[in-house]
Amino acid sequence: MKQEMYAKREGFSSSIGVIAAVLGSAVGLGNIWKFPYVTGANGGAAFILVYLLCVALVGLPVMLSELLIGRHTKANAVGAFKALQPRRPWFLVGGAGVLSAFLIMAFYTTVAGWVYAYIFKAAGGMLVSTKPEDTSLAFKTLISGVAEPLFWQMFVLIVIGAIIMAGVTKGIERVTKLLMPLLFLLLLIIDIRSLTLPGAGVGLSFLFKPDFSKITVSVILAALGLAFFKLSVGMGAMITYGSYVDKNENLPKMAIKVALADTLVSLMAGIAIFPAVFAFGFKPDAGPKLLFIIIPTVFNSMPLGRLFMVLFFLLTAIAATGAMLSLLEVPIAYLTEQYQWTRRKATLLTILGIGLLGSTATLSNSLFAKVTVFGKTFFDFFDFATSNVLLPLGGIFIALFVGWQWNHTKVKLEMSNGGQLTNERLADAFIFLVKFIVPVAIALVLLAGLNIIHF
Ligand code: PHE
Repeated sequence: MKQEMYAKREGFSSSIGVIAAVLGSAVGLGNIWKFPYVTGANGGAAFILVYLLCVALVGLPVMLSELLIGRHTKANAVGAFKALQPRRPWFLVGGAGVLSAFLIMAFYTTVAGWVYAYIFKAAGGMLVSTKPEDTSLAFKTLISGVAEPLFWQMFVLIVIGAIIMAGVTKGIERVTKLLMPLLFLLLLIIDIRSLTLPGAGVGLSFLFKPDFSKITVSVILAALGLAFFKLSVGMGAMITYGSYVDKNENLPKMAIKVALADTLVSLMAGIAIFPAVFAFGFKPDAGPKLLFIIIPTVFNSMPLGRLFMVLFFLLTAIAATGAMLSLLEVPIAYLTEQYQWTRRKATLLTILGIGLLGSTATLSNSLFAKVTVFGKTFFDFFDFATSNVLLPLGGIFIALFVGWQWNHTKVKLEMSNGGQLTNERLADAFIFLVKFIVPVAIALVLLAGLNIIHF
């Protein structure tokens, strides 16, 4: 019965398409907007080191776990756990993932809206100053409005809804495959400009000379949360994408490649931002506005700056769009497969829900500025609750599932494509990680970072 139900699923059509789609999910606002500001807020180089550890020892194993579960079951985040463990409540992990997708989309579409708006502002010559006061004011005016940021958020939702309705292979694959290399190239250009600014060295040492006294438990939790958010793991996006991946794909290799490429993009974004932060006298801990106040000053200090700035925000918008497609795919695969909704109905209703919830995040800087949940604005609450709580929690259970529930012979068979690849040693190391290290490490960081236990 199940077999038949999933038999007709669409999938990614080529190996390069798969990598592009998975990388398209990983690379997004997380690299270009979040990585720099969270790094800036947590003290720079030492934070980056902790972050790299989190990616390698926690994020990567969880990513592989999800891809394996997804490809093995060929099902959505909830259906996958139901297929493997029909009699136990593991499917709740998938359910929490669907919830996380909604909450992330709620604030992600706010920021994506700002990026879309900046394409037009840059093109229209509205961002031409290099003075910190001017770029800060331009950003503040946008986000503290009501109609304008709401309009852009809804615009974003309509764009991704249209792509999603075009289907998996045709929509997602085509859009992401083309544009990743272009983003990379543009980041390289900005890096060169930023590095040749007078005083760039201070920014570089902020990024690469660690000061370990800055590491606290909440800094470690921030790094862990960022690793989850960055790699799109802990909420079933990689289960869902894994379900579209062909049996012959080398999953461990793909996961490693994606994590490396993704980290490179983040570091390049950091190199684009921090030398300029110090060269122009901004503060590294400016928070979520960092990207939007720094990038215009960098471009306005170089020839053809306006053209490049338009391109930059355009490519950032496209990267954000690739990430949002994978976020949306989680509830949509769930609704179409578990409840037999049509793709159209699932897309429209999901987008409507996100629009309603997301508008509270967008209005966090205006109408709802004083409304708080657990002491945070809606925007900050959605962000914190997902990155720093729900995704790590999801990660614990996904790792526990592969480490303790799933038969190890089956895990190894899935990992080696039924014995075609020789990666037994790697598989043993992976199983050891997800069995012990990953769940314990996440649990400790989570409990300490949330102040539930003290060392
Ligand atoms: N990884 C994406 C980014 O960095 C965000 C994301 C999180 C996408 C979770 C899918 C799932 O922008």
